[in-house]
Amino acid sequence: MKAHRIADHVYCLHADIETDDRFEGIWPIPEGVSLNTYLVRGTKTALIDLVRDWTNAADQLRRQLDSLGTSFEQIDYIILNHLEPDHTGYLAELRNINPRLEIISTAKGIKLVESFYNITEGVRAVKDGDQLDLGNGVILRFFETPNIHWPETMMTWEETSGTLFSCDAFGSFGKLGDRVFDDQFTPEEHRFYEEESLRYYANIVASFSTFVERGIQKLSGLPIRCVAPSHGIVWRTRPAEIIERYLRYASYSKGPAEKEVCVIWGSMYDNTRLGLEAVLRGIESEGVPYRIHRVPNEDVSYVLADAYRAEGILLAMPTYEYAMFPPMAYVLDIFRRKHIYHKKVVRIGSWGWVGGAQKEYEAAIEPLKWESLASVEWAGIPKEGDIKRLEEAGKLLAQKIKGV
Ligand code: FEO
Repeated sequence: MKAHRIADHVYCLHADIETDDRFEGIWPIPEGVSLNTYLVRGTKTALIDLVRDWTNAADQLRRQLDSLGTSFEQIDYIILNHLEPDHTGYLAELRNINPRLEIISTAKGIKLVESFYNITEGVRAVKDGDQLDLGNGVILRFFETPNIHWPETMMTWEETSGTLFSCDAFGSFGKLGDRVFDDQFTPEEHRFYEEESLRYYANIVASFSTFVERGIQKLSGLPIRCVAPSHGIVWRTRPAEIIERYLRYASYSKGPAEKEVCVIWGSMYDNTRLGLEAVLRGIESEGVPYRIHRVPNEDVSYVLADAYRAEGILLAMPTYEYAMFPPMAYVLDIFRRKHIYHKKVVRIGSWGWVGGAQKEYEAAIEPLKWESLASVEWAGIPKEGDIKRLEEAGKLLAQKIKGV
């Protein structure tokens, strides 16, 4: 990894994390994730956001500082836009290395500096509109953007380069390698990062979509030339693209979303799978695209991303011990926590001796504000009449998504 110049006085440093660990202990990152840090120089030097010392991230950072002719010892300020430990885990070690370092965050952030790192000295709380003069005309300005996605969150603005240091907002999963800027990646690579930004948003930010819209509105007057998030691509050429993408993602939480179906299925002995095939024929007959996930085989992280993006959801699960197929119960619980709201939905499933999934399902989706278009259940293997009802349910779902 090397440091990347945004302007003569602004550099992006980053550590690529490649690990079997999960992000936040929940979300898989098979393609890694980058932890971005920024160095801003006037006569004083500030670092904006830090790293957790995860797969040698601190060493990666140290080497990049060295390539810029500086070091942890020479940093004057550490700006903490957000206290989640992926950006602050190295803070106590950094303070030990450099005791004169001043730590700057919102008042809520400073409380977490104490609770996470037991640091109370050399800290400064800033509020909306406050500035930090680094000398030589370089001034950092702070904007509180609470709940994107923690309450203490702020963003930092550097005017002469037009750079917005947005922390988690506008970020994505996916390591970066030796490139960081939007104009350095091919269209195919951008498609990968777009998928990973949606998964990141659905996994981490979706519950706070109202705050995303509010934060973007608050910053709309800034002449942003570069969006510099703490994960993923740095947008120096097309900053509006990632801002508009995040606004689109935020809008999914209110519906309508993209005109496609997210199919989530689980089957014990293939009877529900056979019914699923009939529904899919109905959807296909209307030409509506779908993406399909089997649970528990696939991680809920990916299910969340496609469910969040799609206007329609098809759930196929059998009754299991008088209730829902347990992996689907878990998916629906995550959907409630992550605000997968306002979807058009069909649910199907087989039962053996007796049903029971439907009753639990109805209670589970009640908080989700879903429009339940059809529920089709049957005993054992689906019969001719069941197949017809299932195909019709698929057609109905597709037609509702098309708006016909
Ligand atoms: Fe990247 Fe909320 O931390």
